[in-house]
Formats: sequence, C-alpha cells, structure tokens
Amino acid sequence: MRKKVTKAIFPVAGLGTRFLPATKSVPKEIMTLVDRPLVQYAIDEARAAGIKEFIFVTSRGKGALEDYFDHAPQLEQELRRKGKDELLSALKNTNMDSGDIAYIRQHKAMGLGHAVWCARRLMHNEPFAVILPDDVIAAEKPCLQQMVEAYEETGGNMVAAMEVAPDKAPSYGILDVNEDMGSMVSVKGMVEKPAQDEAPSNLAVIGRYILSPDVFRHLNRMKQGAGGEIQLTDAIAQEIAEDKGVYGYRFRGQRFDCGSKAGFLQATVAFGLARDDLRDDLEGYLQEVMAAKQAAE
Ligand code: UTP
Repeated sequence: MRKKVTKAIFPVAGLGTRFLPATKSVPKEIMTLVDRPLVQYAIDEARAAGIKEFIFVTSRGKGALEDYFDHAPQLEQELRRKGKDELLSALKNTNMDSGDIAYIRQHKAMGLGHAVWCARRLMHNEPFAVILPDDVIAAEKPCLQQMVEAYEETGGNMVAAMEVAPDKAPSYGILDVNEDMGSMVSVKGMVEKPAQDEAPSNLAVIGRYILSPDVFRHLNRMKQGAGGEIQLTDAIAQEIAEDKGVYGYRFRGQRFDCGSKAGFLQATVAFGLARDDLRDDLEGYLQEVMAAKQAAE
C-alpha cells in the first residue's frame, strides 16, 4: 500500500524583497488577504488534504509567523464572554496542537531547494508535500487535496502545473512533457527559468508538490542552479534521470501569485468579491472606479 502523505513543508524563509519595506518587519506570509494571513490559506488547504504534521522552514525576523499559531486564551475568553462565536471559531482555526507544528531555521536564503532540504530529518523517509504560501489557489476542491487524490493512483513525484504565456516562462520552472494524459502529464525533464525560446512547453510549475524522500538524496549533492540558488526543480529532475515517475498535475482552480504586488492585489479583489459580507460594497466601488476611468478617457 502506498504511504499516505501526512507531512507538509512550508518554506517561508525567503527575504520577500518584492514587498519591501513592508517585509522589513512583517513576514510576507503574515500579510492578509481580506482578513486572513496567507499562511492561514495554506494551512487550511493542507488540512483539507489530510496533512497532520506542519513543518515551517523559517528565517530571521519570522517571529510573527510562529506567534500566529499560538493559542490566545485571554482573547478567546473575551470573545466567549461577548458571545462572538463566529470570531471564536475563526480564531480556533489558527490553533495548532502541541507537536503538530515544527519550525526549522534556514540560516541563509540559499534557495527553495535548500529550504526544503533543511527539513529532511523530520520527514522520516516518507513522501511529503511542499506548499508555498505565497501561491494562493482559489478552488472548489483545494489544490493539494486534488493532488493527493491523483497521487494515490500514480505515486512518484507530482508538481502542480499551470499553463503560462510564452513570455512568462522565464519566471517559472517549465515541464518537458513526455505524455499528456489530460489532467496529468508525465514529465521527461524540467528547466528552471528558461529563456523564452528555450522553454520546452507552456506548463509551469507552481507552489504545490508531493515528493518522494529520495529528493533529499539529490538535494544532498546539489550545486547552485539558476540565479545562484539551490533549486528544487533541479532535484526533482534528478528523479527523472533515475527513471522515477514525475508528473505534472493540471489542477482545477485559479492561482494567484501573492509573492508579487499585482498578484496580491488581484487576489484581494477576487477573495473580497467571493465574500457575501463584502461583495456588494466592493462591486459597487469597482464599478465606480471603472466608470470614472472610462469617463476620463
Ligand atoms: P521567492 O522566489 O518568492 O522569494 O520564494 P522570496 O524571498 O520569498 O521573495 P522575493 O522574490 O525576494 O520578493 C519562493 C518561496 O520559497 C521560499 C520563500 O519563502 C517562498 O515561500 N524560499 C525561497 C525559502 O524558504 N528560502 C529561500 O532561500 C528562498
């Protein structure tokens, strides 16, 4: 029987330079989409996929992120006293039971592959998920849950894949497709941040992975790749070289790149519009803005 995926790594040790000066003191993952920090969306998605152990790879200045998962007895007591049950239950979702969450420090931002490698000793030779909280995915069935279900059939390694325009390829890891099976492709190669005319397909890897523990063996030997960083895609590509299965999964849902300012703003609008309590106000405002823009043109 295939081992269930119950562990997830959340690499959050990056510098978040695109959001400076905010990220000088606020971790990117604590920035809020409507009223929840990015990391809460990631945790909810992981829980829906059956993840039981949450391993964060953090760095200097990420204290607010660790505090976020602490229980807040005083605040809870106050909300209970005031009968604010909805807020109380929102707060409960932020709690983690002792021992379910662990923090590992990446001492130097040497890349995503290195960040994942930092968590190797906690994975106990089991398959694991990797979630990048700055990729937020709006989906009826959470993206990682879709992937876990597909993985139960395939095993191997699986990356979330999304079609991108050719001029965007240099910002992503791009899949070299062996066989296209619809929602899934088998992969014969991966190139990190290729030049536009060297991209082997239009399928880009985004921040959800299910990986075999063998990937750590490749990361052990890894040298710096594109951008001088230790790249996770390079280690996954090594699995292909060893004839292990690597699959791209075309998830159903909309991904927002909340690591970029434009993506974050788009997500804010989309998640605001999806909320019953905000939709009317926000829609009205957006219509006003568009009308004023058109009148000025
Ligand atoms: P990004 O490429 O978005 O980098 O990392 P970043 O540092 O977060 O942000 P910018 O580009 O400076 O604005 C993708 C993911 O990999 C993690 C980041 O925290 C983010 O979740 N990461 C990246 C690490 O954990 N360690 C690293 O050394 C690099």
